[in-house]
Amino acid sequence: MRILVFILAMMFLPSLAAAQETGGVPSPSITKGKGEQCVADTDYMRRYHMKELSHQRDETMHEGVRTKQFSLKECIACHATTDDSGQPVPINAPGEFCASCHEYTAVKVDCFQCHATKPEQKKQAQASALFPMTALAEPEVSQ
Ligand code: HEC
Ligand code: HEC
Ligand code: HEC
Repeated sequence: MRILVFILAMMFLPSLAAAQETGGVPSPSITKGKGEQCVADTDYMRRYHMKELSHQRDETMHEGVRTKQFSLKECIACHATTDDSGQPVPINAPGEFCASCHEYTAVKVDCFQCHATKPEQKKQAQASALFPMTALAEPEVSQ
């Protein structure tokens, strides 16, 4: 079932995005990221961001390797928006970047139970609240 959803979504999304660019079919409406381009080819990102983000590459978690290219923090830094008063809006709020496609394709990600949804939160607030050990293991030097 999941595979089928995946295949359908993958067939569907690029054309939707294309339609959006030419002002055609309205949904899902995906806000554009900051800067000129994504961390990889846009089309690649559409199809494979979940693989690149997955904890299966437990590199960060277990080996302490941090590749910046597919860092979730970086995604949020570029893809988050601000509201009228200039406050950052959670990336997983309805209609926001990560949510826009996922709602459309009925994908649920649990990532934001732990990961910050807004850029430049002092540290991964939720992660440290839920996982005090993580906070300890993560000295505040880098931020
Ligand atoms: C149970 C809590 C938890 C959940 C749920 C979770 N993560 Fe993580 N994740 C962590 C912790 C803890 C780290 C290591 C600390 C850090 O670097 O922020 C981490 C690190 C990462 C990193 C490397 C660091 C970074 O910011 O890029 C990525 C990428 C990542 N997670 C992606 C995801 C994705 C995608 C999901 C959802 C599918 C997810 N995580 C769900 C706790 C979680
Ligand atoms: C340096 C800023 C930047 C970072 C960091 C970044 N993106 Fe992007 N992203 C963009 C831009 C700009 C676009 C639109 C590019 C275009 O129009 O061709 C984009 C496009 C995308 C798309 C396609 C959206 C669509 O319209 O179909 C996805 C999916 C995506 N990014 C996911 C991610 C993920 C996941 C991460 C973190 C691993 C990430 N991005 C990190 C700037 C960024
Ligand atoms: C261009 C549309 C689009 C955008 C934008 C997008 N996603 Fe996705 N994402 C999908 C689709 C479609 C799937 C379903 C793939 C599947 O079923 O395995 C998915 C699946 C995922 C998964 C795997 C979920 C699972 O349970 O297997 C993660 C993790 C994920 N996305 C993270 C993100 C994050 C984080 C962002 C925002 C930075 C984001 N995505 C933005 C379309 C998108």
